[in-house]
Amino acid sequence: MRLLGIETSCDDTAAAVVVDGRKVESSVLASQDEFHREYGGVVPEIASRKHAEMLNAVIELALKKAKTTFDGIDGVAVTCGPGLAGSLVVGVAAAQGIAFARGIPAYAVNHLHGHLYANYLNGDAPTPPFVCLIVSGGHTDLILVESDDKHRRIGRTIDDAAGEAFDKVARLLGLGFPGGPRLDVLARSGDPAAFSFPRGLIHDGGYDFSFSGLKTAVRYHLDAHPEDADHRAADVAASFQAAVVDALCAKTFRAARDFGVSAVALAGGVSANSSLRARLRDEGARVGLRVFVPPVEFCTDNAAMIAAAAYYRGASAIVAPELLTADPNFAW
Ligand code: KG4
Ligand code: ZN
Repeated sequence: MRLLGIETSCDDTAAAVVVDGRKVESSVLASQDEFHREYGGVVPEIASRKHAEMLNAVIELALKKAKTTFDGIDGVAVTCGPGLAGSLVVGVAAAQGIAFARGIPAYAVNHLHGHLYANYLNGDAPTPPFVCLIVSGGHTDLILVESDDKHRRIGRTIDDAAGEAFDKVARLLGLGFPGGPRLDVLARSGDPAAFSFPRGLIHDGGYDFSFSGLKTAVRYHLDAHPEDADHRAADVAASFQAAVVDALCAKTFRAARDFGVSAVALAGGVSANSSLRARLRDEGARVGLRVFVPPVEFCTDNAAMIAAAAYYRGASAIVAPELLTADPNFAW
């Protein structure tokens, strides 16, 4: 089954063609970073206008790269939420139009399910049961995947998302937008043990996360030592990153142990972080758990993961085109 995936939940306009939820025939993404950079963050109004300008061309290119046309597509999968309302409606309207015009099924996909199913794309996929850590700009969730189409959330952040903390600390260090990837690069030349920042909830015995105390600790440190933002920015970045990675790894491996699974998987934009990827792999090897980390292009927002999620959710995700709606608060 060949599905066209569409993703417009935030500031990336993306379309992809995926066969049987696994084989990526094309994955096209138009980044809007250039248009948001001068504002230091994503401006919702600009995001929705750019989606409207770019989506048709992105879909056409995805079909062309997959060497197919609308005639070769069996269904259209679209992100319905969570995300920015004005951005989501652009993708949803496009999917409605395609489904109506071609008489093919429309699949309503939760963006976070998409991140999880990025682990099924190409190559080697994890076999349930496994634990998946989803770390993005708006979410930090720990998911127990019981079967290919059955999963439940066992933990989440009680305040900031991990990506949000990366972006806020990057801003404190004057790294600009997008902050997470820049902080990752800077941290490579710093000492992760230079400063001791708090690891939120690390000893609480549960599976939830907290990053707002960490972000505040970094801010207080820089208020007290403003010179560190210049002379020791790499040490601050590395120490902050180590605190995030420690907390994420501790909870993920605790859940894996408690639920008796033999594999853990990583998903979401922050899983592009080099330290997090390396640490999960090392820790996995040490305790004898398999670790799955999607290639970076499928960690950050993309449409291939949306087509994969639709395939694995199957009939339960199919919605009559006229009932397809954007749901900014789409719950897990
Ligand atoms: O999943 P995603 O692309 O969009 C959302 O659904 O939120 O995640 C974006 C988040 C941003 O907060 C960004 O700063 C963070 O992922 N991010 C990173 C890295 N690459 C992206 N954070 C740390 N290190 C990275 N290399
Ligand atoms: Zn995302």
